Amino acid sequence: MCGIVGGSSKRNVLPILVEGLKRLEYRGYDSAGVAFTANKKITQVKTVGRVADLESQLKKSDESNNGIAHTRWATHGVPNTKNAHPHSSLNEIFVVHNGIIENHEPLRNNLIAEGYKFISDTDTEVITHLINYYKNAGHDFDSAVIRAIKDLKGAYALGIIDVNNPDFVIGAREHSPLVVGEGIDENFIASDVMALSQVTNKFKFLEDGQIAIISNDNIEILGKNGAPKNIATQEIDSTAYTNDLAGYSHFMEKEIFEQPTAVSNSIEGRVLESGPQEGIFGAGFEEALVDISNIQIVACGTSYHAGRIFEYWSHKFLGINCRVDYGSEYQYQEPIKTQKTLLVTISQSGETADTLASLRFAKKTDNPITLTICNVANSSMCRESDYTMLTNAGPEIGVASTKAFVTQLSCLSLLLLTLMKINNKPENSIKKISKALMDLPKNIQQTLEDLEPYKKVAKLIFNKNSALFLGRGMYFPIAREGALKLKEISYIHAEAYPAGELKHGPLALIDKNMPVLAVVPDNEHLDKILSNIQEVAARKGRVFSIGPISKTEITKEGGHINIPKTLDLLNPIISIVPMQLISYYTAIYKGTDVDKPRNLAKSVTVE
Ligand code: F6R
Repeated sequence: MCGIVGGSSKRNVLPILVEGLKRLEYRGYDSAGVAFTANKKITQVKTVGRVADLESQLKKSDESNNGIAHTRWATHGVPNTKNAHPHSSLNEIFVVHNGIIENHEPLRNNLIAEGYKFISDTDTEVITHLINYYKNAGHDFDSAVIRAIKDLKGAYALGIIDVNNPDFVIGAREHSPLVVGEGIDENFIASDVMALSQVTNKFKFLEDGQIAIISNDNIEILGKNGAPKNIATQEIDSTAYTNDLAGYSHFMEKEIFEQPTAVSNSIEGRVLESGPQEGIFGAGFEEALVDISNIQIVACGTSYHAGRIFEYWSHKFLGINCRVDYGSEYQYQEPIKTQKTLLVTISQSGETADTLASLRFAKKTDNPITLTICNVANSSMCRESDYTMLTNAGPEIGVASTKAFVTQLSCLSLLLLTLMKINNKPENSIKKISKALMDLPKNIQQTLEDLEPYKKVAKLIFNKNSALFLGRGMYFPIAREGALKLKEISYIHAEAYPAGELKHGPLALIDKNMPVLAVVPDNEHLDKILSNIQEVAARKGRVFSIGPISKTEITKEGGHINIPKTLDLLNPIISIVPMQLISYYTAIYKGTDVDKPRNLAKSVTVE
């Protein structure tokens, strides 16, 4: 989950690399570095901290036509300058790397035996020495790279420069994303298109095992064994990839407020009051899904919570068995042969290593029909799935996912409607849900109009050490998502429980210092959850409730936040918005780094 960028240009490439890194900081931000060719040598500048620190360390006089740069999320070795990338071998070969080399230890031992000295604790350093080793054994720069990567096991996206070939940058990928950007008199490599949207809208998406050799006037793509490959250049609308705060204080705040538009964009043209449109998941989807007997969802983090809500929908409205697994668990389970299964991966980035590995695992072991619900066109998951629905949320920069979640749920509602249609469920139910879905952007907008209630709750909880979140049924995943938001940006320990589980243990935690946030539905669970709230209040716990009901008396001590009422199945989507805002304001009052919480990164491309 590091970000890499590299380029070869007739103009000074350094400002482009630094701007690219700034746009990639969502992938990691504990250290940064750049290496560039000038005056027959390679200079490198590395720093602990943010890209802005790196920028301030570059001299005004630094200029180069060729370089590679990196922003790091530490895996092997603590964040310090020694471990920051680029890594060099004898000041000749310099490498930036995103991913993990699983066999770095035996490779390191072999290279030490060959006389190479290691100065960092990273797995990356073996790559630099390995390339150097093969160059010394008689290979050219490009064939040394091709030979070296044959020895690597694990995941990598690489940017490589060589002091003896100062006009070239080589990129390579295996299980980690890498794009090639095509400019005029300049060409680039980067972890994603956003890093390069200031210089080009033309991209080639490398496949696993491919390498790209770029200079300012040429791009050559080679396969694993060095055979030339033709990859089509795609034009991507670069205006969709701005990273402008637009007057907001943080990206997370901006992205919360973008949710009504994001949901509109994800359903527009896909659903009418009469129901979902044909072919919105790709041609032939409806025919392929006749008679499916299982739905298997795989996802991580926030995307997993979206999947858990669909599980309830599937059982209640489709009667189809649905199972949801974490990507990090699913890929390691014993493969079970199922009858006609739809495997749905849900991912904002489309590159999350655990989810992607699960998709590949399922294709190999059970051969299901695969669908990905994803925010990034051309991501690995989109390319490797039979069917895709893009969430159309627009770029999400804040590390804590917000608009990705509500748009995933909008797309999952479309999946539900499509499956209801395929399974001949009553037309009036389909119409009712479709209409309510079309009203969702308006409902979400209403939750953004008065921010005072959220600030009030945040003021009461920001100095606490822990918080408990409660929900029942399909509101339980919402409680989990609320707890995840609070813990990741405010560092307050937050746990979610099905409300009925309280008395089986967690009630022991309740006292006046334990805030409890409860999602209260207007359905058959209401009276039960009100009783659970009373159990907390009786033990002096402070309860804040959120739901489409106006029973203010339920939480005399804390407070109740009323949200717009829609169909019960869609109300969870609305109820997450107050939780996002409570977490946001809590983090503001605590003074944490909202968009870049400690230890986290946006795109988790390592297992
Ligand atoms: C939490 C968050 C993460 C991601 C998770 C999966 O706010 O953002 O939990 O949801 O890392 O990422 P994607 O959706 O890109 O697969």
